[in-house]
Amino acid sequence: MFAKRIENLVESPVREILKVIDRPGMISFAGGLPATECFPALDLSCVDSEHLQYGPSEGESELREQVAASLIERGLQTTPERVLILSGSQQGIDLVAKLFVDRGTNVAVEAPTYLAALQVFDLFGAEYIPYTADQPKIGNSRLTYTIPTFQNPTGHCYSEEQRRALALACDRSGSVLFEDDPYRDLVYGECDRTPVCSYVRDTEWIYQSSFSKAYAPGLRLGYLTCSKKLFPHLVRLKQAADLHSCRVSQRLILQLLQLNDDRNQTLTTFYRRRRDSFDLSLTSAFSGIADWQQPVGGLFYWLTLRPEFAIDTRELLKQAIEAGVAFMPGESFYPRGVKALPSLRLNFSHASPEEAAHGLRTLAGIIRTACESRV
Ligand SMILES: Cc1ncc(COP(=O)(O)O)c(C=O)c1O
Repeated sequence: MFAKRIENLVESPVREILKVIDRPGMISFAGGLPATECFPALDLSCVDSEHLQYGPSEGESELREQVAASLIERGLQTTPERVLILSGSQQGIDLVAKLFVDRGTNVAVEAPTYLAALQVFDLFGAEYIPYTADQPKIGNSRLTYTIPTFQNPTGHCYSEEQRRALALACDRSGSVLFEDDPYRDLVYGECDRTPVCSYVRDTEWIYQSSFSKAYAPGLRLGYLTCSKKLFPHLVRLKQAADLHSCRVSQRLILQLLQLNDDRNQTLTTFYRRRRDSFDLSLTSAFSGIADWQQPVGGLFYWLTLRPEFAIDTRELLKQAIEAGVAFMPGESFYPRGVKALPSLRLNFSHASPEEAAHGLRTLAGIIRTACESRV
């Protein structure tokens, strides 16, 4: 009854976990949720009744201009005419997959990588070539997907050398570079955020980002730009998918971008504090159990359990939820067929510092008990 590809459609583990995190008293380290305290105030005065009419598929022209200026500042060669406003950057993944991925197409992905990107690539029948920032061995992939800045799930930020190496690998093999950059504004220290796409010489490329993390995910807005040849195809795919993104959301975002306030500063100060207090609680609860690196930006810590505490974190999740703590098992972020390390992803931005301290103690306690009972 269904299309063949539906066999590859699996439920997103994140969305499943999001269903339980609203339970009273639940402490969630699971989603990539921005802190609600950071959402902008809503001022609907920028919306007229004309914005309730159908609009252009590419997006509102003023917003495209504003976005293009910011992309050029980042080092990308583009114009407003080559900016496509998306209904969240998740839509960009869907459109790019539709453009490049058939059953059996090789897609190079970091292992681990963003699980909802894997969900989309899986749907279209991708085969995976896993690579790392240090060794961008992308083989004969048609498409290379990367999150070089504050990666989801590891929080890793590529050095300039790693960025250049990945661009060179794509240039040499002709693999289309697809850079996903939704976390770039959440930066807490010195690091390189130059788009990898700006280093590309020959191969085709797509660069996308989002307003979800620095503004509000409920507005469902993101944007992409790409090499000239790809743009008309992506616009047609967007037309076929949803005609255009919400015009009210676009007006709201445009108004916020034009405020020229110190939003970025306020945001990074807030999140840096959250990260620092999370770090203290993590060190106190998880020293000796897991290893991790402090992220320079983004929303996540990535923990690898030490061999004596190595358990399947998917099993751990069931117990943790019963104890009122949610997190993301690391296994979900690995492409099919790749051996996953016992690991977990913890979001540090959503829970209050007190909740985080309590939740981390609870989680560490469950891991210790599970491993002790194993002996
Ligand atoms: C790497 C990455 N790409 C894309 C998305 C989708 O974001 P949105 O559709 O809200 O822009 C996310 C969300 O967490 C993400 O982590």
